[in-house]
Amino acid sequence: MRQLALDLQELPECRYECSDALEFSRKIPGESVKLVMTSPPYNIGKSYETRREIGEYIADFEPLISELVRVLRDDGSLCWQVGNFVDDGEIFPLDIYFYHIFKSHGLKLRNRIIWHFGHGLHCSRRFSGRYEVILWFTKSDSYTFNLDDVRIPSKYPGKKHFKGSKRGELSGNPKGKNPEDVWEMTCERLIDDWDALIWDIPNVKSNHPEKMNHPCQYPVELAERCVLALTDKGDCVYDPFAGVGSTLVAALKNERRALGSERVKEYVDAGNERIDRLREGTLITRPIYRAIYEPSPDDKIAQRPEEWK
Ligand SMILES: C[S@@+](CC[C@H](N)C(=O)[O-])C[C@H]1O[C@@H](n2cnc3c(N)ncnc32)[C@H](O)[C@@H]1O
Repeated sequence: MRQLALDLQELPECRYECSDALEFSRKIPGESVKLVMTSPPYNIGKSYETRREIGEYIADFEPLISELVRVLRDDGSLCWQVGNFVDDGEIFPLDIYFYHIFKSHGLKLRNRIIWHFGHGLHCSRRFSGRYEVILWFTKSDSYTFNLDDVRIPSKYPGKKHFKGSKRGELSGNPKGKNPEDVWEMTCERLIDDWDALIWDIPNVKSNHPEKMNHPCQYPVELAERCVLALTDKGDCVYDPFAGVGSTLVAALKNERRALGSERVKEYVDAGNERIDRLREGTLITRPIYRAIYEPSPDDKIAQRPEEWK
């Protein structure tokens, strides 16, 4: 029986509980969540998990995944951010293991996004790992995708068609280009003055301004891109493994409603502090798009064209 159901009409803009993900998700009404965005434990022996045999670890997620599909709206999306489980130097890419469970629930994979970053462990018997994956699934074919809200600048905004009937016309979109499915250490985004700049999404290490008391938090800007693209204002975003609330911050910062469950109380406390600071306007998050490259003034096709000014 579904006790203590959350009434999403009555729900405050945010509900973030120290709770087991399965128990919490059972309280969420069906078809009420527009985006499930999460990074589950990877079974790599962090303080918050017990390392198990890979098959056992994956099988344990099945009841939760059923619940997540149940709570998802028909036009909703699910983003599952994972890396590798590593055992005795052998890697097990978790997205490959999880894919079949989501597919068996009828979800459709829209992108397998590679999040590439520049720092991490240095390996000596294989190439050092520098990416993780976000599996983006939708529940149906009629899903929200706000491409214009997440466009990034073209590196060469002044580029023109060089043949055919459009020869000589600008070939790009004044709003920028599709950010593609490799979210690089360096990506690009147009800003107010429409100069082309190169931006990055680094992972959260000790010198990152968002770093909290969590060993594996992801950057708010990673969740923000999914929130902006896959939901509208007022929609509900749920993170079942909320950690220190990075997804919730991304949702609330962009006027969405946020639900989160997290088993470790210190993380929930730290996350609630972040949310309080967000509301007071004192939370430091890394700006969603930070410049690390500017074109030189004589770089002709990297400048914003006169026609778009
Ligand atoms: C990879 S971390 C997520 C970090 C989060 N994305 C952030 O930026 O803070 C996974 C989290 O899931 C939590 N967790 C593990 N099992 C859980 C469960 N059954 N229910 C709720 N939370 C759980 C862990 O304590 C850990 O904080």
